[in-house]
Amino acid sequence: MSNDHRGPSAYDDPGTPEEVTRRTFMANATLTLGGIIGLGLAIPIVGSLLPKTGAGGGAWTALDAAGWKELQSSTDKPVKIDFVLKNKDAYLPEDSSPESVWGVKVDVEKFKKLRPDIYEVKGGDVPYPAVNMGFAIFSPICPHLGCRFNYDDSAGKFLCPCHGSQFGPEGDHLAGPADRGLDPLPLREQSGTAEITWIRYAPTVPDRIVVSYTS
Ligand code: FES
Repeated sequence: MSNDHRGPSAYDDPGTPEEVTRRTFMANATLTLGGIIGLGLAIPIVGSLLPKTGAGGGAWTALDAAGWKELQSSTDKPVKIDFVLKNKDAYLPEDSSPESVWGVKVDVEKFKKLRPDIYEVKGGDVPYPAVNMGFAIFSPICPHLGCRFNYDDSAGKFLCPCHGSQFGPEGDHLAGPADRGLDPLPLREQSGTAEITWIRYAPTVPDRIVVSYTS
């Protein structure tokens, strides 16, 4: 009686260690390639979420009144302004957390010259005015890897404690590993209350790719 195991059981043959290693490598390579292609597709989709204007694409969030007042009476020194960010998620109950932005009084012409990363980008400007009522509002999140930076009065610059990126008062990139200047946020005033749209942009890339915004 034949005792031939080369039938269906041949598929169970794990092969030599070299063959196993090659198969594992090919499987991993396929997964990695799939991930890269997926990411390539995902970025334009995420980018397409960019609000068309501050008013049209994202919800407005009120800034702290005292901080807004301080900014209005400031000279050219950046002012940190607090606000309460409402976090909405389809799967979780709504909650809120304290947040802040940086505001600075700017001269529009000087600002435009200092910020080619906003006004001279290939894909077009950010789709909202980066300066409104003579003020620019910056996200407090470092465009390098997302740390919170601070304004150093004596140095006259924003300094990021994580990897040493430095930005001028107008948010222009001066030094360090960040790929772009500080990210401007939409600003408007409604019945005396200043409001912003909170946008998070992707880190470590020169372009502003929207990751999320208040909606
Ligand atoms: S996160 Fe700011 S320099 Fe790296």
